This record gives sequence, C-alpha cells and structure tokens, in this order.
Amino acid sequence: MSPADPHPDVRPDSVARRDWWKSAVVYQVYPRSFADSDGDGVGDLGGILDHLDHLELLGVDVVWLSPVYRSPMVDNGYDISDYHDVDPLFGTLEQLEELIAQLHARDMKLVMDLVVNHTSSAHAWFAESRSSTDNPKRDWYWWRSPRPGHEPGSPGSEPTNWGSAFSGPAWTYDDHTGEYYLHVFAPDQPDLNWENPEVRQAVYAMMRDWLDRGVDGFRMDVINVISKVVGPVGDDGRVTLPDGVLGGERDPRWPGVVDTVSFADTPAFVLNGPRVHEFLQEMHREVFTDRPPGLLIVGETPGCSVGEAVLYTDPSRGELDMVFQFEHVDLDSGPKGKWDVLRMTMLQLKQSLGRWQDGLAEVGWNSLYLGNHDQPRCVSRFGSDAPEHREQSAKALATVLHMHRGTPYVYQGDELGTSNAGFTRLEQLRDVESLNHYATAVARGEDPADVLRALAYKGRDNARVPMSWDASPGAGFTTGTPWLDLHPLSGSVNAAAQVEDPNSAFSHYRRLIALRHAEPCVAHGTFRMLLADHEQLYCFERSFGDTRLLVVANLSSAADVVPDLSELAAWSSAEPLIASVPGSSPPPPTRSPPGSPGSSVWPDRAVWEPLWAPSARPSRR
Ligand code: GLC
Repeated sequence: MSPADPHPDVRPDSVARRDWWKSAVVYQVYPRSFADSDGDGVGDLGGILDHLDHLELLGVDVVWLSPVYRSPMVDNGYDISDYHDVDPLFGTLEQLEELIAQLHARDMKLVMDLVVNHTSSAHAWFAESRSSTDNPKRDWYWWRSPRPGHEPGSPGSEPTNWGSAFSGPAWTYDDHTGEYYLHVFAPDQPDLNWENPEVRQAVYAMMRDWLDRGVDGFRMDVINVISKVVGPVGDDGRVTLPDGVLGGERDPRWPGVVDTVSFADTPAFVLNGPRVHEFLQEMHREVFTDRPPGLLIVGETPGCSVGEAVLYTDPSRGELDMVFQFEHVDLDSGPKGKWDVLRMTMLQLKQSLGRWQDGLAEVGWNSLYLGNHDQPRCVSRFGSDAPEHREQSAKALATVLHMHRGTPYVYQGDELGTSNAGFTRLEQLRDVESLNHYATAVARGEDPADVLRALAYKGRDNARVPMSWDASPGAGFTTGTPWLDLHPLSGSVNAAAQVEDPNSAFSHYRRLIALRHAEPCVAHGTFRMLLADHEQLYCFERSFGDTRLLVVANLSSAADVVPDLSELAAWSSAEPLIASVPGSSPPPPTRSPPGSPGSSVWPDRAVWEPLWAPSARPSRR
C-alpha cells in the first residue's frame, strides 16, 4: 500500500495508481458516427476535437476510439491496411496527436482500438504474403491447399469446413497461387497467423510505437481469436487445421456463425485457443513491461466463460486488465444464432450479470457494457423505447450497469437515451454483417420480412446512426449528407436539449459517473444480489468497509411495483443518494400484494429507479 493510496482499505495489490480504471468510466467514440467537421457526411477527428467539452462535462476518464487507421472501410475500419497512419476519411496523424494532447490536458486518457487478429486484405503484409508461395511473409497468414479431390475454388474445396462470422465459408480462394486463405470475418479481413513469431514481433513493435506516441492503452479487437486449434504438421510442412462436424448444434458461446448446416461451428476452433494465454503473456511482456504504470489493456473476448475471464484478467498472470464478455448480449440469440431472435427476461439478465459479479469477485475484472458499435441500442433491447418509457428506461439501465462492480463503458449516444433507429428497409442498412446475412438468408429461402425484422432489432447499424447533437437539420452531426440516416428522434433526443436539464438522461449519467469517482464503495465494494427471483426489480447491495449502497431499479413497465421488502427492511431509513425519478423515495417496507401490477416479460419495462444509501453513511466524501 503506498502512502498516497486514496483507498487504504483496498487490497494492497489493487492500489489505485495501478488499477485506476476500477474507479474510471470509459466512453466509446465510433468516429464515423460521432461528429463530422468537414461536411462529407462522415464523422472525423476534427469532429471529436470539437466535442471534447461534452465528454469532459459528462465526466468520463477514458476515450476508447474505434479504429481510425488507414482502411478500405469494408468493416468500417476494423479492416486495417496501415497501422501507422490515420485514414484521410478521418483526418491526419497530426489531428490524432492533437486529440491525445487535448484529452491529456483535460485529464482524460485515450485508448486505441487495435485489430490484430486480422488485417485488411489491402495491407502490405497481405500483398506480400499473397504474391507467391515462397514469399517470406507467406506464412504470416493462413494459406492452405484446396481439399484434395475437389475442383479448386468450387464450394466444398475449402481446406476446412469452417464458417465465417460474416456469413459464407471462412476461406477464400486466391487463384494467383491456387490456395485459400483463412478469414474468420469478411474475405477482406484475412487472419494473421499468430503461430509465426515474426507476426507477433511485428504486432508488438507496432503497439510499442503507439505507446511511444502517447496513447494510454488498447482495446484489443477479438483478441481471444488469435490462437487457432491446429493439428499435426501435414505433408506440405504446415500444421493442419481440423474439420468440424457438419449439421451440429451451434456453439452457444458464440452465435456468430449462423449456418451450421453448411458449415461446422467455427468457434470451437478459434475461440480461446490453445496458445492464447501464452500469446497474451508474451504481448504483455514485450509491450508493457518497463512502461510506467497506468496503461490499460482491454480485450474483446466473445465466447469467454467466467473461468476464462479469471485467467485473462488475473493481474498475476500479466495478460489483460479486463475483458468484454458476451454472455448477456447473447441471451436473445436462439439455437440458429444471432439472428434467431429470442425474447429474454429480466431474470435471465440478472442471473447472467450476477454470475459474472460472483465469478470475478476475488480475482479478475470485468468491463460493464450494455451496448457498443456492434450491439443494438441498449434501451431498445434491455429496456423499453416506447415514448412513455424510453427516458426512464435508459436511466434505470444506466443505474444498474454503473453501480455494478467492474468498469462501465458508455457507448456514444447512450448518455442521451438513444434508441434503435427503427429500420424498415434494406436500403437503410450499411453494415457488411447485416448485408451479407440478408443476402445469404434470403438465398437460403428465409422470408425477407423476417430477416429484415431481425436486422432492425439487432443490426449493428442501430448503434452507428450519427450522434444527435442538436435539433438542426443535420442534427449538428454534419452539414452534408450523413453516411447513414440521422436518428428519427434527433429533433427531440439530442445533446443540446439535455446537457443543461438536471432531469435528463445525460445529467443522470453525469451523477452516476461522479458517484463512482467519489465513492470507493462503487468501485471497490463487494456485490450481493437481492430479490434475486424478482421479475421486475433489479436490486443489489454494494459494501465496502462500513459503507453500504443499495440499488433498486424497477425494470418493468409498471409504475407501482411494490416488492417484498423483508430483505430490504434494514434500509427503511436509508438516505436517497441518486434517484432517476425526481422526488422518489424508498418504498414502505410492506409485502407486495398478490398479483401486483407489472409485466414480467422483458421488452417493456423501466419507469422508476431510485438509488439509496444508508443514512448512517460515513463521511468519507
Ligand atoms: C470486433 C469488432 C467488430 C468487427 C469484428 C471484426 O467484434 O468490434 O466491429 O466487425 O471484430 O474485426
């Protein structure tokens, strides 16, 4: 424990200076959709620089910047063609340096998104690798011969029967050298071969360069996909890659692959692979050792179990500081995958998030998120975007999330209570994942209207609709034609309407963020779920030293849910700390009458969510 430790009761190994991020809040900027400074309809670095006051006012500590590197933009920048430069669409390297400097001047950090499971097919490494079978970089990617006995390039001749997360096979044939290359995502995103030590060293060198430029860490894209399951060395001197079983059940851990009839379930071969921990420990040693403390490494880890998360984030192992796990954002995926949309209940959400709270209570750390650039808007998915509920629902969800143990992430626009866009036509969509799915699903014979409905609910374009800054025709986002239609509610749900309003979603987020900063119990306290079986109330207790916090959120559409308060009796004289409903106070400690109103079904809920602390709170603040 250092003398400067502001939280003396925290375990000695979690001194605030090193894991400052436990009391921090991260804000994700998706640059394409944040703010456009040059009128081309696409957000850019100039736009971010213009809106730093918004972030500072909100009170966030870290900006996670989705990729701004050079890219053909097939996957909006998650297909990087040059790790060392900024794409002209977004601006210049100088502007990025300016952003780093300005964030630092405002006491905020910048975490760069970094995609190293794959590059763009337009990356110079891939161009070299593709050029000949004996090019020195040939083995930097996964090149394999067509399946013997099949016409090269024809369906079925792929080296393995793995499917891509973005529809179709995970292999693309290149007739220049007569071999296939592997891509877990789009054909334009070939997977790097992390088995090759030269690849790893090139990635680490690039990461060191960015740290030298002053960035404060990385959000590592699909980082648990870097190690593939490999078989013995084959006749061609390369390790073999195994086939999976066709027609099996999809792997419930990752609903990415949707066609398990034509393709094997790929996750088993690519997620949390045999060498992933070894690679991450090596990366940690090679990139972060001997640097001043305070850098942040967040790993996006689809299909990561609680047990694996402990391994990834146990500080003594030197891998990642925290993970993005996917369990709760897969709750509404059915047996046929992501687009097979299921209803989910609030109980399922509680059970899932509660399991993660318990699983990482002793060792490890979690990212707290309900939305990001890959997910639909959280208020439409986990709450209610009905006009009469949207704002309260957004606030209630924010309270629940921000008061959990873990590091909360605010996805741009969520602080305004932004809902899904209400897409009704295919022409409104831009995302490669959605467009590929539509084409393949309809070709398979699925009803186009059903496919579109699923895309409207879950498609990634929902999150990518431009930010609504004000009620002007371009929503303050652009003076040109936006690359994706503006939000239909931008005239009323926008930043200008909310920043000064003490009752707005924005102000509620501000209060939650400020509470995490001021109250060590929020960052470091233990978590205990209360009313665990209640179908409408999300209720839990945090405890740290002699401070206890109670969080009660009504996530149903019924305004007058009265819980069985026997579990909460001790809180009857609690002092309200934050309430999203002005003037709300703790409910009387009575038992709920049988058949009390309220829906137990997920898609419409959320009106009332006070947060109280006990009156006998120590005067720590
Ligand atoms: C991650 C990104 C997503 C991208 C994919 C492939 O999941 O968050 O946007 O499409 O990786 O890079």
